[in-house]
Amino acid sequence: MARLRVGVLISGRGSNLQALIDAAADPAYPAEIVTVISNRADAQGLAHAAAADIPHHVVAETDRAAFAAAADKVLKSAGVELVALAGFMRLLDIGFVEAWTNRMVNIHPSLLPSFPGLHPQRQALAAGVKFSGCTVHFVRVEVDTGPIIAQAVVPVKAGDDEDRLAARILTTEHRLYPLAVRLFAEGRLRIEGDRVAIAGAIAPDIAVLNPTEVLTGLASRGH
Ligand code: GAR
Repeated sequence: MARLRVGVLISGRGSNLQALIDAAADPAYPAEIVTVISNRADAQGLAHAAAADIPHHVVAETDRAAFAAAADKVLKSAGVELVALAGFMRLLDIGFVEAWTNRMVNIHPSLLPSFPGLHPQRQALAAGVKFSGCTVHFVRVEVDTGPIIAQAVVPVKAGDDEDRLAARILTTEHRLYPLAVRLFAEGRLRIEGDRVAIAGAIAPDIAVLNPTEVLTGLASRGH
């Protein structure tokens, strides 16, 4: 069966791009990465595309509409059916978002709708939440909004700083994004207003507590 043709937009490191490339290396995976676009010439992720022999393009137009037109041309000529934003850090042109509605997804390192925008891990630490995580969602015009496809919960641990929390979430992103793209490729997703129904999906029935009910002893009661 023909695999879903995915175009990935990046701005930097590209570890989520690499996770999608790795997933698609399995011929049984129902999607393939056919093109990669970066808005930055120095994005490390471009090397991942090159190493996997995936056509990659730098679209450096700073004007939003010009970027959209150039990116759209690349995506169309590659026959892209799904656009995946993977650490793409520019605001997109409204017309571009509308043209790709329900065919463009994003990954964000928080449990949306909490902590959209920049520095979500810093926001999570400042809010004192005990869990954060990551979200894959369909893209809408407002940044980091849109029907949620899948989420993963990641604990915040004592002593976390932004980098440690980000690294823990990132590991989970690398599992969640390939899963979400697979669900799309398999035609399992049905958008119903702001919600996404997933055919054949099984939700976990365990709840996780943070802290767990197992505690260590206290040296004294003085705190
Ligand atoms: C990832 O954590 C991704 O979720 C985040 O940028 C990082 C990119 O890493 N995206 C956003 O914050 C989008 N709002 P990567 O380049 O290694 O995939």
